Amino acid sequence: MRYFIGLMSGTSLDGVDGVLVGMDESARGNENRPQGQMQQLSASYVPFSSDLRASLFALQFSGFDEIHRASQVANQLVLNYAECVLHLLKNTGLYPEKITAIGVHGQTVRHRPEYGYTLQINNPALLAELTDIDVIADFRSRDIAAGGQGAPLVPAYHRSVFGKKGQTRVVANIGGISNISILSAHGDTRGFDTGPGNVLMDAWILRHKSQTFDTNGDWARRGQINTALLAHLMDEPFFYKAPPKSTGRDLFHEEWLNNKLNRFSVLAPVDVQATLSALTAHTLADAIHTYAPDVQDVYICGGGAYNTNLIELVQIALNAHGKTVSVESTEVLGVSPNHVEALAFAWLAYRHVEREPGNLPEVTGAAGLRVLGAMYPH
Ligand SMILES: Nc1ncnc2c1ncn2[C@@H]1O[C@H](COP(=O)(O)OP(=O)(O)O)[C@@H](O)[C@H]1O
Ligand SMILES: [Mg+2]
Repeated sequence: MRYFIGLMSGTSLDGVDGVLVGMDESARGNENRPQGQMQQLSASYVPFSSDLRASLFALQFSGFDEIHRASQVANQLVLNYAECVLHLLKNTGLYPEKITAIGVHGQTVRHRPEYGYTLQINNPALLAELTDIDVIADFRSRDIAAGGQGAPLVPAYHRSVFGKKGQTRVVANIGGISNISILSAHGDTRGFDTGPGNVLMDAWILRHKSQTFDTNGDWARRGQINTALLAHLMDEPFFYKAPPKSTGRDLFHEEWLNNKLNRFSVLAPVDVQATLSALTAHTLADAIHTYAPDVQDVYICGGGAYNTNLIELVQIALNAHGKTVSVESTEVLGVSPNHVEALAFAWLAYRHVEREPGNLPEVTGAAGLRVLGAMYPH
């Protein structure tokens, strides 16, 4: 058994999700599991302090002395990553020398594939120093160098664990941004970002109720969806662009929302929250309907899976297209929604070590399959 750790901290700026997995290579060569069987042995979550969250948020836009600030914040971030790794080692009783590698996403501060770059702040050298484990980082750049979007990178992993022959499944990851993987019945895979996940809802509830997120969507549920505002929010070219496509806070930031709300200043904040939930649900459902019309089952992961109001809206929006689609959490497939992305980065670390590609050119638009990431030996 070889062991890997995956660390993911996404656009929501909430914290770091980590998993420790065992790769059982005795199953290698099996037609359904050609790479062997990955088993989750432990999971941990380290929430960011409000200071770190604020510093990360401030780096989403250009500002004074940002190179210095980014480097300092990256070091702070890595202390959180290291703490997460420590928990995983403690939970499993494994020593660092037993772990083949850590795959770490880093914290996205710019995602501009159209300019040929994406930037996840990180300090993998410090993480290797602190943990005594090989660290693999910067997974997205190579795909962009090959002409791709560098995102999403999770579809290949989704295919390997959730794909089912003869059945079209969609895995929808609702983090800060939402992305889908379409695992078609014939074996091909597509995937792209569909737009905002929680990012706008989080910003809105923070502004009006000083909460970092709307637990279970309870606040949104009390509001009324405003159809005029919903139509205005959906009037955004990104939603109608053909894949490959990816996005982030670079587009869906508070200024974007403020501009959209200009004409709607009389609306009650609770109704805006309800409408933002509908925006996430409708753009996701429309993307699924357009690019996976034969889908039977939709599985939700990411923190949005816990927003019951949002999931109901997704279900309603999908059924509005005239056929019944089942919408469930990845939990029913045996994987907690919180762990899917971290598992994907453990898997990408494994792929790097094996010198196997981690991207899917048909998803990202890259010129070909590429081995992703850069290794920092311990
Ligand atoms: N119980 C819950 N109810 C509603 N929303 C939730 C709940 N738990 C998590 N979330 C949402 O999920 C987000 C975190 O999701 P996550 O998958 O970690 O996203 P990211 O990858 O962008 O960090 C939170 O910011 C919040 O909006
Ligand atoms: Mg998160």
